[in-house]
This record gives sequence, C-alpha cells and structure tokens, in this order.
Amino acid sequence: VVSPKIAPSMLSSDFANLAAEAKRMVDLGADWLHMDIMHLALSKGYLVSRYSRVYNSLCYSGRHFVPNLTIGAPVIESLRKHTSAYLDCHLMVTNPMDYVEQMGKAGASGFTFHVEVAKENWQELVSKIRSAGMRPGVALKPRTPVEDVYPLVEGETPVEMVLVMTVEPGFGGQKFMPSMMDKVRALRQKYPTLDIEVDGGLGPSTIEAAAAAGANCIVAGSSVFGAPEPGKVISLLRTSVEK
Ligand code: DX5
Ligand code: ZN
Repeated sequence: VVSPKIAPSMLSSDFANLAAEAKRMVDLGADWLHMDIMHLALSKGYLVSRYSRVYNSLCYSGRHFVPNLTIGAPVIESLRKHTSAYLDCHLMVTNPMDYVEQMGKAGASGFTFHVEVAKENWQELVSKIRSAGMRPGVALKPRTPVEDVYPLVEGETPVEMVLVMTVEPGFGGQKFMPSMMDKVRALRQKYPTLDIEVDGGLGPSTIEAAAAAGANCIVAGSSVFGAPEPGKVISLLRTSVEK
C-alpha cells in the first residue's frame, strides 16, 4: 500500500555544490531530497520538555529548536531552479508558521514541522501548509510520546506524513536509536496507508529494523554521501522497504 521513498539528506552533501549534488542523488535513484531547515539555539544536548517553563520562555524569547544552523527558503528557491525533485523539507524551528508562506513560494514540496512546537495552532498550520501548495507532515523528537501525533493524523485537516526522529535532531552522523521502532510499529498498526518517515542513523545496518517496523520513507545522510557508491546504498534501502 505504501511505496518506498528514499530521501538522501542534503545536510550531508557539499552545500557549495548543491545543485550538482541534488542531480547526482536523483540520477542515482533518490525519490525525494530531504532538506533540513534548522535554527538555533539550545546548548548542545540540552533537552527540554515541551511542558517546561524553560521551554516556553525560550520560545517566547524567540530562541530556537536545535543547536545548529543550516539553510532556509532562499536556498530552497535557488535549488528549485535546478531540479524538479520532491523537496522534503524538515523544519526544526520553534515557529514553523512563520516559514509556511516563504517555503511554499520557494518551491518546497513537503513541509514537516515538529509536534513539540505546534501546540494548539496545528490545525491552522496544516491548512496553511496545504494552501501554500505543500504536503503537511509532523515530526517528533525521541523523547516525545507517539500519542502526541495521533490527533494530527486523525484530525479534519490531517497531516500526510509522520516523521519519527531516530536521533536527537540537530546533526547528521549520529547513532540510530532502535527503541524508536516501537513508535513506528504503533503508527503502522493504526494507520496502514500513512507515510511514515524515519530520520537519523539510517543505513545498511539499520534499515532492516526500520523497514520491519513499517517505515516507508527513509532519510539517509551520512550513509549515502559517505559511501563509495551511494547508488548502491539507495537501492539497498529501497529493496529493504519493498520486502
Ligand atoms: C538531523 C536531521 C537528519 C540528518 C540525518 O537533525 O534531521 O535529516 O541529516 O543524517 P544521518 O543520516 O547522517 O543520521
Ligand atoms: Zn531531517
């Protein structure tokens, strides 16, 4: 029912040659290009619960989601001129609403925001994403319970994809967290046709676990870009999901 989508994470590409890197991945069989859009700035490894006062004060003071900075809408806009590929944009920001319009105009295909920051305005957010011509998705961090996304999948304006983080968001090249597969299994059991994406530490040694749990959209950064033959990794990932 659900088709595999292999999405190399461009965070591991050579940003100075983004158009060529995108073309290389598409030519090697990538279905989607995963674009990590993140901004600042909890100190590294700092985990806050969405219910904590610290978290809220950070949000209100306008500081942000992960300890890294990557790219934004201007880069999506330039890349769009060079490729017709599906740009699977993962927004690790505290204020996703502020980026919907510019991301839509820039040519993003999917817009995945984090449930930890969506709060009560998620329905409005999802509608805006749709009206801006993008496909809405919701992501959850490792410490966030999977139940938190159920209302967003079942609502009147549902998201079309759930992204289960299998590392703490912020950087490529981290170790896959196998315990996150419980979330993937729970989602797949409840929603047989939902796109379920896994992101972080995916590669030849972890894909079997993710595929068996029911993930069909596979983000892979360092395992693809770091391989001597990235095309082989892409097809191995696809074969594992198809099995
Ligand atoms: C991490 C990002 C990932 C990252 C994955 O915050 O969301 O997309 O690029 O990289 P790998 O596959 O190297 O773990
Ligand atoms: Zn990502």
